Amino acid sequence: MVSKGPLLRLLTAINRRRMKLLMGLAFVAYVASVWGNFVNMRTLQENGDQKVESKIEEAVAPLREKIKDLEKRKRNVEHWIGHENFELINHDVVEPLYIEVDQIYHLASPASPPNYMYNPIKTLKTNTIGTLNMLGLAKRVGARLLLASTSEVYGDPEVHPQNEDYWGHVNPIGPRACYDEGKRVAETMCYAYMKQEGVEVRVARIFNTFGPRMHMNDGRVVSNFILQALQGEPLTVYGPGTQTRAFQYVSDLVNGLVALMNSNVSSPVNLGNPEEHTILEFAQLIKKLVGSGSEIQFLSEAQDDPQKRKPDIRKAKLLLGWEPVVPLEEGLNKAIHYFRKELEYQANNQYIPKPKPARMKKGRTRHN
Ligand SMILES: NC(=O)c1ccc[n+]([C@@H]2O[C@H](COP(=O)([O-])OP(=O)(O)OC[C@H]3O[C@@H](n4cnc5c(N)ncnc54)[C@H](O)[C@@H]3O)[C@@H](O)[C@H]2O)c1
Repeated sequence: MVSKGPLLRLLTAINRRRMKLLMGLAFVAYVASVWGNFVNMRTLQENGDQKVESKIEEAVAPLREKIKDLEKRKRNVEHWIGHENFELINHDVVEPLYIEVDQIYHLASPASPPNYMYNPIKTLKTNTIGTLNMLGLAKRVGARLLLASTSEVYGDPEVHPQNEDYWGHVNPIGPRACYDEGKRVAETMCYAYMKQEGVEVRVARIFNTFGPRMHMNDGRVVSNFILQALQGEPLTVYGPGTQTRAFQYVSDLVNGLVALMNSNVSSPVNLGNPEEHTILEFAQLIKKLVGSGSEIQFLSEAQDDPQKRKPDIRKAKLLLGWEPVVPLEEGLNKAIHYFRKELEYQANNQYIPKPKPARMKKGRTRHN
Protein backbone atom coordinates (compact mmCIF):
# COMPACT_ATOMS: atom_id res chain seq x y z
CA MET A 1 0.00 0.00 0.00
CA VAL A 2 1.48 3.35 -0.99
CA SER A 3 -0.03 6.70 0.10
CA LYS A 4 -0.44 9.34 -2.54
CA GLY A 5 0.27 12.85 -1.28
CA PRO A 6 0.57 14.93 1.89
CA LEU A 7 -3.20 15.33 2.35
CA LEU A 8 -3.90 11.69 1.61
CA ARG A 9 -0.98 10.71 3.83
CA LEU A 10 -2.51 12.70 6.66
CA LEU A 11 -5.95 11.19 6.02
CA THR A 12 -4.36 7.75 5.81
CA ALA A 13 -2.66 8.28 9.14
CA ILE A 14 -5.99 9.35 10.68
CA ASN A 15 -7.79 6.46 9.00
CA ARG A 16 -5.13 4.05 10.17
CA ARG A 17 -5.54 5.18 13.75
CA ARG A 18 -9.33 4.84 13.38
CA MET A 19 -8.94 1.47 11.66
CA LYS A 20 -6.63 0.22 14.39
CA LEU A 21 -9.10 1.33 17.02
CA LEU A 22 -11.99 -0.31 15.18
CA MET A 23 -10.04 -3.50 14.59
CA GLY A 24 -9.03 -3.53 18.22
CA LEU A 25 -12.67 -3.13 19.25
CA ALA A 26 -13.79 -5.82 16.80
CA PHE A 27 -11.19 -8.23 18.14
CA VAL A 28 -12.11 -7.46 21.74
CA ALA A 29 -15.80 -7.96 20.84
CA TYR A 30 -14.98 -11.27 19.17
CA VAL A 31 -12.96 -12.56 22.10
CA ALA A 32 -15.64 -11.26 24.45
CA SER A 33 -18.35 -13.10 22.54
CA VAL A 34 -16.32 -16.31 22.51
CA TRP A 35 -15.53 -15.89 26.18
CA GLY A 36 -19.14 -14.93 26.91
CA ASN A 37 -20.37 -18.17 25.35
CA PHE A 38 -17.76 -20.08 27.27
CA VAL A 39 -18.69 -18.47 30.59
CA ASN A 40 -22.44 -19.01 29.98
CA MET A 41 -21.74 -22.61 29.21
CA ARG A 42 -19.62 -23.03 32.32
CA THR A 43 -22.48 -21.64 34.41
CA LEU A 44 -24.71 -24.34 32.96
CA GLN A 45 -22.03 -26.91 33.58
CA GLU A 46 -21.85 -26.04 37.25
CA ASN A 47 -25.50 -27.06 37.53
CA GLY A 48 -24.19 -30.60 37.21
CA ASP A 49 -26.09 -31.94 34.21
CA GLN A 50 -23.85 -34.58 32.59
CA LYS A 51 -25.61 -34.41 29.25
CA VAL A 52 -25.25 -30.66 29.15
CA GLU A 53 -21.60 -31.06 30.10
CA SER A 54 -20.79 -33.19 27.07
CA LYS A 55 -22.81 -30.86 24.82
CA ILE A 56 -20.83 -27.95 26.23
CA GLU A 57 -17.57 -29.64 25.33
CA GLU A 58 -18.87 -30.25 21.81
CA ALA A 59 -19.88 -26.61 21.46
CA VAL A 60 -16.71 -25.16 22.97
CA ALA A 61 -14.26 -27.30 20.97
CA PRO A 62 -14.74 -25.43 17.67
CA LEU A 63 -14.37 -22.10 19.50
CA ARG A 64 -11.05 -23.23 20.95
CA GLU A 65 -10.05 -24.38 17.47
CA LYS A 66 -11.04 -20.96 16.13
CA ILE A 67 -8.76 -19.22 18.62
CA LYS A 68 -5.90 -21.63 17.81
CA ASP A 69 -6.60 -20.93 14.14
CA LEU A 70 -6.27 -17.18 14.65
CA GLU A 71 -2.95 -17.70 16.48
CA LYS A 72 -1.72 -19.96 13.70
CA ARG A 73 -2.62 -17.57 10.91
CA LYS A 74 -0.88 -14.73 12.70
CA ARG A 75 2.23 -16.91 12.96
CA ASN A 76 2.26 -17.09 9.13
CA VAL A 77 3.05 -13.37 8.92
CA GLU A 78 4.82 -12.74 12.21
CA HIS A 79 8.17 -12.23 10.44
CA TRP A 80 6.67 -9.14 8.75
CA ILE A 81 5.18 -7.58 11.85
CA GLY A 82 7.10 -4.41 12.69
CA HIS A 83 8.27 -3.85 9.09
CA GLU A 84 7.68 -0.24 8.06
CA ASN A 85 5.79 -1.26 4.89
CA PHE A 86 3.57 -3.85 6.54
CA GLU A 87 0.34 -3.43 8.41
CA LEU A 88 -1.85 -6.30 9.59
CA ILE A 89 -5.59 -5.60 9.73
CA ASN A 90 -8.07 -8.20 11.00
CA HIS A 91 -11.07 -7.61 8.76
CA ASP A 92 -13.92 -9.66 7.30
CA VAL A 93 -14.30 -8.60 3.64
CA VAL A 94 -18.05 -9.17 3.88
CA GLU A 95 -17.99 -5.81 5.71
CA PRO A 96 -16.93 -2.68 3.78
CA LEU A 97 -13.36 -1.48 4.27
CA TYR A 98 -12.22 2.13 4.12
CA ILE A 99 -8.47 2.53 3.54
CA GLU A 100 -6.16 4.17 1.01
CA VAL A 101 -4.47 1.74 -1.38
CA ASP A 102 -3.08 1.59 -4.92
CA GLN A 103 -3.38 -2.15 -5.52
CA ILE A 104 -5.67 -4.79 -4.04
CA TYR A 105 -4.78 -8.49 -4.16
CA HIS A 106 -8.20 -9.92 -3.35
CA LEU A 107 -7.35 -13.41 -2.07
CA ALA A 108 -9.82 -13.63 0.81
CA SER A 109 -11.83 -16.85 0.52
CA PRO A 110 -11.75 -20.30 2.02
CA ALA A 111 -9.95 -22.39 -0.59
CA SER A 112 -9.92 -26.06 0.40
CA PRO A 113 -13.08 -28.15 -0.13
CA PRO A 114 -13.59 -29.05 3.56
CA ASN A 115 -13.17 -25.36 4.47
CA TYR A 116 -15.50 -23.92 1.85
CA MET A 117 -18.09 -26.66 2.31
CA TYR A 118 -18.09 -26.18 6.11
CA ASN A 119 -20.08 -22.95 5.81
CA PRO A 120 -21.26 -22.62 2.18
CA ILE A 121 -23.29 -19.49 2.89
CA LYS A 122 -20.25 -17.69 4.30
CA THR A 123 -18.22 -18.91 1.30
CA LEU A 124 -20.82 -17.39 -1.01
CA LYS A 125 -20.96 -14.15 0.97
CA THR A 126 -17.16 -13.85 0.96
CA ASN A 127 -16.93 -14.33 -2.80
CA THR A 128 -19.94 -12.18 -3.68
CA ILE A 129 -20.43 -9.45 -1.05
CA GLY A 130 -16.71 -9.55 -0.22
CA THR A 131 -15.76 -9.07 -3.87
CA LEU A 132 -18.32 -6.25 -4.26
CA ASN A 133 -16.80 -4.55 -1.21
CA MET A 134 -13.27 -4.86 -2.60
CA LEU A 135 -14.42 -3.57 -6.01
CA GLY A 136 -16.21 -0.70 -4.25
CA LEU A 137 -12.97 0.11 -2.45
CA ALA A 138 -11.02 -0.07 -5.74
CA LYS A 139 -13.53 2.31 -7.36
CA ARG A 140 -13.46 4.77 -4.43
CA VAL A 141 -9.68 5.10 -4.28
CA GLY A 142 -8.84 4.44 -7.95
CA ALA A 143 -6.93 1.24 -7.13
CA ARG A 144 -6.30 -1.75 -9.37
CA LEU A 145 -7.82 -5.02 -8.15
CA LEU A 146 -6.50 -8.53 -8.77
CA LEU A 147 -9.02 -11.31 -8.11
CA ALA A 148 -7.68 -14.70 -7.02
CA SER A 149 -10.04 -16.77 -9.14
CA THR A 150 -9.61 -20.48 -9.62
CA SER A 151 -9.40 -23.39 -12.03
CA GLU A 152 -12.64 -24.50 -10.35
CA VAL A 153 -14.46 -22.07 -12.67
CA TYR A 154 -13.85 -24.78 -15.30
CA GLY A 155 -15.62 -27.35 -13.08
CA ASP A 156 -15.22 -30.95 -14.24
CA PRO A 157 -13.79 -29.89 -17.62
CA GLU A 158 -14.70 -31.34 -20.99
CA VAL A 159 -11.65 -29.82 -22.68
CA HIS A 160 -8.06 -30.69 -21.81
CA PRO A 161 -5.86 -28.86 -21.00
CA GLN A 162 -8.04 -25.94 -19.92
CA ASN A 163 -7.44 -22.61 -21.63
CA GLU A 164 -8.96 -19.27 -20.69
CA ASP A 165 -11.56 -19.37 -23.50
CA TYR A 166 -13.24 -22.47 -22.06
CA TRP A 167 -16.51 -21.56 -20.27
CA GLY A 168 -16.49 -24.49 -17.89
CA HIS A 169 -18.69 -27.38 -16.79
CA VAL A 170 -19.95 -26.62 -13.30
CA ASN A 171 -22.80 -28.20 -11.34
CA PRO A 172 -24.59 -25.11 -9.92
CA ILE A 173 -26.22 -27.02 -7.06
CA GLY A 174 -23.51 -29.53 -6.13
CA PRO A 175 -21.46 -29.48 -2.91
CA ARG A 176 -18.64 -27.47 -4.56
CA ALA A 177 -21.00 -24.88 -6.09
CA CYS A 178 -20.67 -22.36 -3.23
CA TYR A 179 -17.00 -21.96 -4.18
CA ASP A 180 -17.08 -22.59 -7.94
CA GLU A 181 -20.13 -20.41 -8.63
CA GLY A 182 -18.97 -17.88 -6.03
CA LYS A 183 -15.72 -17.40 -7.95
CA ARG A 184 -17.54 -17.37 -11.30
CA VAL A 185 -19.82 -14.55 -10.18
CA ALA A 186 -16.80 -12.78 -8.62
CA GLU A 187 -15.24 -12.73 -12.10
CA THR A 188 -18.52 -11.41 -13.54
CA MET A 189 -18.52 -8.62 -10.95
CA CYS A 190 -14.95 -7.64 -11.84
CA TYR A 191 -15.84 -7.19 -15.51
CA ALA A 192 -19.08 -5.35 -14.68
CA TYR A 193 -17.07 -2.86 -12.58
CA MET A 194 -14.49 -2.58 -15.34
CA LYS A 195 -17.13 -1.84 -18.01
CA GLN A 196 -19.47 0.34 -15.99
CA GLU A 197 -17.12 2.11 -13.59
CA GLY A 198 -13.74 1.91 -15.33
CA VAL A 199 -12.13 -0.04 -12.47
CA GLU A 200 -8.87 -1.70 -13.52
CA VAL A 201 -9.14 -5.44 -12.88
CA ARG A 202 -6.83 -8.44 -13.22
CA VAL A 203 -8.17 -12.00 -12.94
CA ALA A 204 -5.83 -14.88 -12.08
CA ARG A 205 -7.29 -18.37 -12.55
CA ILE A 206 -5.13 -20.20 -10.05
CA PHE A 207 -4.58 -23.96 -10.34
CA ASN A 208 -3.71 -26.22 -7.38
CA THR A 209 -0.92 -24.63 -5.36
CA PHE A 210 0.98 -25.93 -2.34
CA GLY A 211 3.90 -24.97 -0.13
CA PRO A 212 5.09 -24.15 3.37
CA ARG A 213 2.71 -22.28 5.74
CA MET A 214 -0.32 -24.26 4.57
CA HIS A 215 -2.72 -25.03 7.36
CA MET A 216 -2.37 -28.44 9.02
CA ASN A 217 -6.13 -28.97 8.61
CA ASP A 218 -6.18 -27.58 5.08
CA GLY A 219 -7.66 -30.82 3.74
CA ARG A 220 -6.27 -30.54 0.22
CA VAL A 221 -4.54 -33.53 -1.29
CA VAL A 222 -0.86 -32.49 -0.98
CA SER A 223 -1.02 -31.57 2.70
CA ASN A 224 -3.22 -34.63 3.42
CA PHE A 225 -0.75 -37.04 1.80
CA ILE A 226 2.31 -35.45 3.41
CA LEU A 227 0.78 -35.46 6.89
CA GLN A 228 -0.49 -39.02 6.51
CA ALA A 229 2.92 -40.21 5.25
CA LEU A 230 4.79 -38.42 8.06
CA GLN A 231 2.51 -39.93 10.69
CA GLY A 232 2.60 -43.45 9.25
CA GLU A 233 -1.12 -43.36 8.48
CA PRO A 234 -2.67 -44.71 5.27
CA LEU A 235 -2.65 -42.21 2.38
CA THR A 236 -6.33 -41.85 1.49
CA VAL A 237 -7.17 -41.76 -2.22
CA TYR A 238 -10.76 -41.00 -3.23
CA GLY A 239 -11.88 -43.24 -6.11
CA PRO A 240 -9.34 -45.27 -8.09
CA GLY A 241 -6.76 -42.44 -8.06
CA THR A 242 -6.81 -42.06 -11.84
CA GLN A 243 -8.06 -38.45 -11.65
CA THR A 244 -5.25 -36.05 -12.59
CA ARG A 245 -3.96 -32.85 -11.03
CA ALA A 246 -1.09 -30.47 -11.72
CA PHE A 247 0.49 -28.76 -8.69
CA GLN A 248 2.48 -25.54 -8.62
CA TYR A 249 4.80 -24.37 -5.89
CA VAL A 250 3.69 -21.26 -4.04
CA SER A 251 6.65 -19.01 -5.00
CA ASP A 252 5.87 -19.58 -8.69
CA LEU A 253 2.29 -18.50 -8.08
CA VAL A 254 3.34 -15.36 -6.19
CA ASN A 255 5.66 -14.35 -9.07
CA GLY A 256 2.79 -14.90 -11.49
CA LEU A 257 0.36 -12.82 -9.42
CA VAL A 258 2.78 -9.89 -9.19
CA ALA A 259 3.55 -10.08 -12.92
CA LEU A 260 -0.17 -10.11 -13.75
CA MET A 261 -0.99 -7.24 -11.39
CA ASN A 262 1.68 -5.07 -13.00
CA SER A 263 0.83 -6.04 -16.57
CA ASN A 264 -1.74 -4.51 -18.90
CA VAL A 265 -3.66 -7.81 -19.28
CA SER A 266 -7.22 -7.33 -18.05
CA SER A 267 -8.69 -10.66 -19.31
CA PRO A 268 -8.40 -13.86 -17.19
CA VAL A 269 -5.02 -15.61 -17.09
CA ASN A 270 -4.31 -19.20 -15.96
CA LEU A 271 -1.52 -19.53 -13.38
CA GLY A 272 -0.48 -23.12 -12.74
CA ASN A 273 2.08 -25.80 -13.38
CA PRO A 274 1.14 -27.94 -16.40
CA GLU A 275 3.06 -31.02 -15.14
CA GLU A 276 0.18 -33.46 -14.79
CA HIS A 277 0.08 -36.63 -12.64
CA THR A 278 -2.60 -38.99 -11.42
CA ILE A 279 -3.51 -38.71 -7.75
CA LEU A 280 -2.14 -42.23 -7.25
CA GLU A 281 1.23 -41.14 -8.70
CA PHE A 282 1.26 -38.20 -6.27
CA ALA A 283 0.57 -40.52 -3.36
CA GLN A 284 3.43 -42.83 -4.38
CA LEU A 285 5.84 -39.92 -4.93
CA ILE A 286 5.07 -38.34 -1.55
CA LYS A 287 5.47 -41.70 0.19
CA LYS A 288 8.88 -42.09 -1.45
CA LEU A 289 10.06 -38.54 -0.61
CA VAL A 290 8.96 -38.88 3.02
CA GLY A 291 10.49 -42.37 3.23
CA SER A 292 7.23 -43.62 4.71
CA GLY A 293 5.96 -47.16 5.05
CA SER A 294 2.30 -46.01 4.93
CA GLU A 295 -0.08 -47.99 2.77
CA ILE A 296 -2.39 -46.41 0.18
CA GLN A 297 -6.07 -46.74 1.03
CA PHE A 298 -8.82 -46.31 -1.57
CA LEU A 299 -12.05 -44.64 -0.41
CA SER A 300 -15.28 -43.98 -2.29
CA GLU A 301 -15.18 -41.24 -4.93
CA ALA A 302 -15.97 -37.65 -3.87
CA GLN A 303 -19.04 -36.06 -5.53
CA ASP A 304 -18.30 -33.78 -8.52
CA ASP A 305 -14.55 -34.38 -8.16
CA PRO A 306 -12.98 -33.13 -11.45
CA GLN A 307 -11.46 -36.05 -13.37
CA LYS A 308 -8.80 -34.04 -15.17
CA ARG A 309 -7.04 -30.80 -14.37
CA LYS A 310 -4.15 -29.25 -16.26
CA PRO A 311 -3.63 -25.59 -17.12
CA ASP A 312 -2.88 -24.30 -20.57
CA ILE A 313 -0.42 -21.53 -19.67
CA ARG A 314 0.47 -20.30 -23.16
CA LYS A 315 -1.26 -16.96 -22.47
CA ALA A 316 0.75 -16.32 -19.28
CA LYS A 317 3.99 -17.25 -21.08
CA LEU A 318 3.23 -14.99 -24.03
CA LEU A 319 1.78 -11.94 -22.27
CA LEU A 320 3.51 -12.03 -18.87
CA GLY A 321 6.73 -13.87 -19.73
CA TRP A 322 5.85 -16.13 -16.78
CA GLU A 323 6.10 -19.86 -16.27
CA PRO A 324 6.70 -22.04 -13.20
CA VAL A 325 10.36 -22.77 -12.44
CA VAL A 326 10.32 -24.84 -9.22
CA PRO A 327 10.49 -28.60 -9.97
CA LEU A 328 7.76 -30.67 -8.32
CA GLU A 329 10.09 -32.77 -6.13
CA GLU A 330 11.97 -29.67 -4.89
CA GLY A 331 8.70 -28.00 -3.90
CA LEU A 332 7.39 -31.16 -2.26
CA ASN A 333 10.61 -31.54 -0.23
CA LYS A 334 10.22 -27.97 1.07
CA ALA A 335 6.59 -28.64 2.01
CA ILE A 336 7.54 -31.95 3.70
CA HIS A 337 10.21 -30.13 5.74
CA TYR A 338 7.64 -27.53 6.82
CA PHE A 339 5.01 -30.11 7.86
CA ARG A 340 7.64 -32.15 9.74
CA LYS A 341 8.50 -29.04 11.76
CA GLU A 342 4.81 -28.26 12.31
CA LEU A 343 4.22 -31.76 13.69
CA GLU A 344 7.16 -31.31 16.07
CA TYR A 345 5.73 -27.95 17.11
CA GLN A 346 2.33 -29.51 17.77
CA ALA A 347 3.91 -32.39 19.70
CA ASN A 348 5.55 -29.86 22.00
CA ASN A 349 2.15 -28.16 21.93
CA GLN A 350 3.19 -24.88 23.34
CA TYR A 351 3.17 -21.35 22.09
CA ILE A 352 6.10 -19.42 23.48
CA PRO A 353 5.64 -15.75 22.65
CA LYS A 354 8.88 -13.98 21.80
CA PRO A 355 9.67 -11.26 24.33
CA LYS A 356 8.72 -7.91 22.81
CA PRO A 357 11.39 -5.22 22.79
CA ALA A 358 10.55 -2.18 24.93
CA ARG A 359 8.66 0.42 22.88
CA MET A 360 9.20 4.16 23.04
CA LYS A 361 6.15 6.42 23.21
CA LYS A 362 6.29 10.15 23.83
CA GLY A 363 9.82 9.85 25.15
CA ARG A 364 8.95 7.14 27.67
CA THR A 365 9.91 3.49 27.47
CA ARG A 366 6.92 1.15 27.56
CA HIS A 367 7.23 -2.43 28.70
CA ASN A 368 4.33 -4.54 27.44
N1 LIG B 1 -4.16 -22.65 -3.03
C1 LIG B 1 -4.74 -23.02 -4.15
O1 LIG B 1 -4.51 -24.12 -4.64
C2 LIG B 1 -5.73 -22.11 -4.83
C3 LIG B 1 -6.25 -22.49 -6.06
C4 LIG B 1 -7.15 -21.66 -6.69
C5 LIG B 1 -7.51 -20.46 -6.12
N2 LIG B 1 -6.99 -20.11 -4.92
C6 LIG B 1 -7.45 -18.85 -4.34
O2 LIG B 1 -6.37 -18.14 -3.76
C7 LIG B 1 -6.79 -17.50 -2.55
C8 LIG B 1 -5.90 -17.90 -1.40
O3 LIG B 1 -5.93 -19.32 -1.27
P1 LIG B 1 -5.10 -20.07 -0.12
O4 LIG B 1 -4.77 -21.40 -0.65
O5 LIG B 1 -4.05 -19.19 0.41
O6 LIG B 1 -6.27 -20.27 0.93
P2 LIG B 1 -6.23 -20.30 2.53
O7 LIG B 1 -7.49 -20.98 2.97
O8 LIG B 1 -4.94 -20.83 3.01
O9 LIG B 1 -6.30 -18.75 2.87
C9 LIG B 1 -7.46 -18.00 2.60
C10 LIG B 1 -7.42 -16.76 3.46
O10 LIG B 1 -8.62 -16.02 3.25
C11 LIG B 1 -9.06 -15.55 4.50
N3 LIG B 1 -10.51 -15.32 4.46
C12 LIG B 1 -11.50 -16.21 4.23
N4 LIG B 1 -12.70 -15.61 4.31
C13 LIG B 1 -12.46 -14.31 4.60
C14 LIG B 1 -13.28 -13.17 4.82
N5 LIG B 1 -14.62 -13.25 4.74
N6 LIG B 1 -12.68 -11.99 5.09
C15 LIG B 1 -11.34 -11.89 5.17
N7 LIG B 1 -10.50 -12.94 4.98
C16 LIG B 1 -11.07 -14.12 4.70
C17 LIG B 1 -8.69 -16.65 5.48
O11 LIG B 1 -8.63 -16.15 6.80
C18 LIG B 1 -7.33 -17.05 4.95
O12 LIG B 1 -6.31 -16.26 5.52
C19 LIG B 1 -8.26 -17.88 -2.35
O13 LIG B 1 -9.08 -16.85 -2.86
C20 LIG B 1 -8.42 -19.12 -3.21
O14 LIG B 1 -9.74 -19.27 -3.66
C21 LIG B 1 -6.11 -20.91 -4.25
